[in-house]
Amino acid sequence: MNTVSVMAPDVAEFAFSEANRPEVERILKRYPEGRKASAVIPLLHLAQAQHGGWLPKAVLDHVADMLSMPKIRVYEVASFYDMFNMEPTGRCQLRVCTTTPCWLRGSDDVVRACEEGLGIAVGENTPDGRFFLREFECLGACANAPVLWIDDHFYEDLDYEGTRRLVEALKRGETPKPGPQNGRFGSMALGGKTTLHDVPERAGQDDGEVAEGDHARDQAPVEKAKPADPDAQTESPALVANDAVPNVKGDHGGDARTEAGANRPLRGDEEAKTIERRDEG
Ligand code: FES
Repeated sequence: MNTVSVMAPDVAEFAFSEANRPEVERILKRYPEGRKASAVIPLLHLAQAQHGGWLPKAVLDHVADMLSMPKIRVYEVASFYDMFNMEPTGRCQLRVCTTTPCWLRGSDDVVRACEEGLGIAVGENTPDGRFFLREFECLGACANAPVLWIDDHFYEDLDYEGTRRLVEALKRGETPKPGPQNGRFGSMALGGKTTLHDVPERAGQDDGEVAEGDHARDQAPVEKAKPADPDAQTESPALVANDAVPNVKGDHGGDARTEAGANRPLRGDEEAKTIERRDEG
């Protein structure tokens, strides 16, 4: 193993690289003026990735200046969240979830495989600075426990042998395929689907006809809403609605229709006047 450390050094100054500038602009645009401080977490992630996996004081200060935030506020954020490292770490970070569901599913074996494969204990960096191993709280993928988070990817459904294979691939400089390592898709049952075997087609999607079975049942509300005899409805719905408004006197003696609309004609009247004007023209 190469014993020359490649860990990122502490620095007196920091600036985002040319390659990262467009991403910085994209992040800042998400937040309105006066709310730019909300960009602190995504900017810290970007800065940490640029600086080899950890955040020296100069990096924190640069982010604080960019966002016009008091420096202490940025230090608080960076030191609060576990995903930010305040000390030099190996560039490739392996985080083993050891919270209860992962522990019940064998996270002790995953930790042991990492320790034996890398020759370090939890919380340590390899002497060449390539790898950093630590335990982590729930990663939110408990359905695929046990879970190992490596850089930007989750590796799931692990056991001792699978983890050793992953570690050896990382040491060769490869990026193993993320996701479940036992062959299943997502968190689907190992034996395949147990429900939702068919993808339902839309009613009449192919030839305009209503299909049998479930599709016919889907059409029931549509059929029910149709008028019994479509030819019987000759007047426009607006005129029918207008006729349905009773021209009654209220208790106060006024015309309910006139008072409600302050002499505003109802829609049917407007349509009739439009027709008259058109006929006159
Ligand atoms: S307990 Fe490990 S992902 Fe939730």
